[in-house]
Order: sequence, then structure tokens, then C-alpha cells
Amino acid sequence: MRITVLGLGYVGTITAAGLASKGHHVVGVDVDESKVESLRRGASPVVEPGIDELVAEGIATGRLDATTDIRAALDRSDVSLVCVGTPSTARGSTDLTFMRRVLADLREAMDSVRPPDSGHHSVVIRSTVPPGTGATVVAPVFDASPLPAGWSVGTAMCPEFLREGSGVADFYDPPFVVVGTADDATRRALAELFAFVGQGVHDVDVPTAEALKYACNAFHAVKITFANEMGRLFSQYGVDARRVMQIFCEDDKLNLSSAYLRPGFAFGGSCLPKDLRALQDLARVAAVDLPLISATTTSNELVVRHVVDRVLATRLERVALLGLSFKMHTDDVRESPSLELAERFIGKGLDVRVYDPIVNPDRLVGANLRHLQSRLTHVNRLLAPSPEEALRDADIAIVTSTEPAVLAALRAHPPQFVLDMSGRLGDDLERLPGYEGVSW
Ligand SMILES: NC(=O)c1ccc[n+]([C@@H]2O[C@H](COP(=O)([O-])OP(=O)(O)OC[C@H]3O[C@@H](n4cnc5c(N)ncnc54)[C@H](O)[C@@H]3O)[C@@H](O)[C@H]2O)c1
Repeated sequence: MRITVLGLGYVGTITAAGLASKGHHVVGVDVDESKVESLRRGASPVVEPGIDELVAEGIATGRLDATTDIRAALDRSDVSLVCVGTPSTARGSTDLTFMRRVLADLREAMDSVRPPDSGHHSVVIRSTVPPGTGATVVAPVFDASPLPAGWSVGTAMCPEFLREGSGVADFYDPPFVVVGTADDATRRALAELFAFVGQGVHDVDVPTAEALKYACNAFHAVKITFANEMGRLFSQYGVDARRVMQIFCEDDKLNLSSAYLRPGFAFGGSCLPKDLRALQDLARVAAVDLPLISATTTSNELVVRHVVDRVLATRLERVALLGLSFKMHTDDVRESPSLELAERFIGKGLDVRVYDPIVNPDRLVGANLRHLQSRLTHVNRLLAPSPEEALRDADIAIVTSTEPAVLAALRAHPPQFVLDMSGRLGDDLERLPGYEGVSW
């Protein structure tokens, strides 16, 4: 393919040289003349292991070139990969000035250069941009006025996941290739361009591709901060956190795995809240600040509050809580966020009925029973013997349980508003008119 790479920083230089090494004809564009000159001489404008050799090879074979003139690069080009910087503004928002500028330059250049042989050109954003940028900033540039004869343009978001320091290796072996586009020709072009990665392309909508990059970077930052908080705390107690985290990382069932990484309802139960409190107390005693750990408890509480506020905002009064324990397949109600919901709704005067496949006061004993009775007086009156009974005359269902009986009852008697707390209710229930996800 004939490819234009806009912006010759870390992402652009590696992308340009990497794609040239795969046999494409690539022309890089930058407003910075020194970067363009450097690349044309066969020297990389950025420092990265392996990039000098790759750039030199591209220039030597004639497959890689650079220019400050966007028109020269765009002439008969099939794909533009936009790799300009998207820095922070003073208030922390994303500065899209370079993005807007380069897109305007690109559109203007189309008026004076030859279209690609196929007539179709793909404008692909590789820079990191906030969700919504594709629709509000990128697409309008090419939709606002008729394109010159011979040109049709599709736009896409294809985030870049390389890390500085191992950028070249990451380019050839990314964790995944994600393409967000509504344009079939662009989707096909990108699948072909990244076929060398040897794994399928994740085909998503544009905002999902835009959001994914932020989720990845936020998670990486949270991981580093978590390890550092463990280190700062445990070192005060004579524990070497390097050893703790080394063994921690051997757990690929819960620690380094997809466990606990689905958006949904708050955590609860007899361990997580208690042990977070204990860690916070250890930190207080040792005069160590653990903002991440402290904020975890606050953030969890906000999930519960958000659900309460949403339900109250409906002004509906009869609530069926389907699931009471803190997770499925247990009767443990200690610190269950669903129990917290029941308490708050009752406090606000709502009419609450509860069904839980397992929680049954006749069977509960010990601390669990005492806990349930202390939190919900007249609990026996609230508990329904079946999901149908709980749903009878209900306006709202708050569903944490995905037991088949619960799902069948919801299908048979769907209330006006169904709030899905797990994201596992299934397509048919998601199509109900009153369906809403707790955070999607
Ligand atoms: N650096 C990374 O490791 C990395 C990894 C993944 C994604 N990203 C994202 O990719 C984007 C680029 O990052 P980077 O580190 O390569 O940035 P960078 O600052 O190193 O390079 C950006 C380049 O764009 C050029 N540029 C600006 N306006 C231009 C215009 N109108 N025409 C042509 N060139 C123009 C600049 O001169 C500069 O050389 C950012 O959105 C970043 O968040 C970066």
C-alpha cells in the first residue's frame, strides 16, 4: 500500500519504518524540518532500540521517505496514519490543536493531489484521543464539504499500544490490533495492513477504540501505584514488598487475570471491605498515606450511592431486589452491597421485596443471621419465596442474581425498569424497553 504517516515522533517514526519493512511504500510528514531531514538521511529522529537500523533499511530500499509537504506524501496514497501529539492542556483536557491542524491540512491537500488508484483513502487516527473525537473532530473534516472528484474517505480509530524503550519490538508484536470504524473499506485496509501481527483484528465502534487506550493506560498506572503503595506500607512493618509482589504475581487465577475486571456492582462480603479497612489502619498507625487504597473504599461506596440515586430519580416505588448476598452461590450477607441498597430504599420509604435463591432466614445461622436481622428488621416480611413473588406489582427490578429462575421470571414479568448489576442477563433481557446497565 501507499501510506502517509503524519507526525514523525515516537509513534510515527516506528510506524513508518515498521510498515516500510513490511513492503509498503511509506512517506512520513512532519512540520519539524530537522526530523524530516534526519529521516531522509537514514537516521531516526527518535531514540529507540532497533529504530536506526529500521529507518536506514527503509531509506536504502526506497520504501521510506519523509517530507514537510503533506501534498507530496498524500499523492495517490491509500492510507493516512495520524500520529501527531495530543498533549494535556493546562486544565488536563486533551489538546487536539495538532490533530485539528493536521486533519485540515490533509483535507486541503486532497484538493490538489491525485487520489489513490482505488479511489478510496482511509484516514486512521493512531494518536490517543478522547471518546467522541472521531465523531466530533475527525469525520466532520471530510463530511463538511464535497470531496474532490476521484476521492472517497473512510475514517477509523486504531490506537497504538507501543511503549517507549521497546517501541520497535512492540510494533511487531502488539497485545492486540483494535479497529474502530463504520467504514468497510477502511476496515479491510487495516486488516490487510496489520495482517503481519498474525492475530485477528478487534472490530469495534470508534468510541470503544478511543476509550480502550485510556483504560489500558489507566490500568498500567494503577498497577504501578498499587505495587508502590504496598511497598511503602509493608516496608514500615519489616516486610519486603518485592517478595510479596513476586509471589502475588504467580496467582494467575485472581491477581493477574481477567477476574474482577468486568464493570458491575460494588464489592462487598466478609473479606474485601474488612481487609481494606485493616490496611488503612496499618497505614494510619505508620503515618503512611495510601490514597489509592483509601479511594478504593470511597469509589465502591459511590457505586452504591449512584444506584440509589438512579432508583430514587425514577420516582417509582416498588422495588424487587433479585439477589441479596454479596455474590452468587453464597448465603453470606455480611457487608453485601445489595443489603445496603435494601436498607437505603426502606429508609427512603420505598416498598422493597427481596428474592435470593440461597438467603433464607430459616437456614441462616450465627453471625450471618444476626447481621441480616440487625440490618433489616422484619426481614421475613421482605423476603419473597420466589422471583415471581418478588416481581409481583414491582416497578423496578435490581438484578444481581443470574439464576435461571430469576431470568425466567424477569422474562415473564418484566417491570418498567430493569437495572442489570452484573452485565450477564443475556441479550433477550437487554432488549427489554426498560433495561439499563449499572454502568453501561
Ligand atoms: N509515545 C508513546 O509511547 C505512545 C504510545 C502510544 C500512543 N501514543 C500517542 O500517540 C500520539 C503521538 O505520540 P508521540 O509520542 O509519537 O508524539 P511526539 O510528540 O513524539 O510526536 C508528534 C509529532 O507530530 C508532529 N506534528 C505536530 N503537528 C503536525 C502537523 N500538523 N503535521 C505534521 N506533523 C505534526 C510533531 O512535530 C512531532 O514530531 C499521542 O497521542 C500519544 O498519546 C504515544
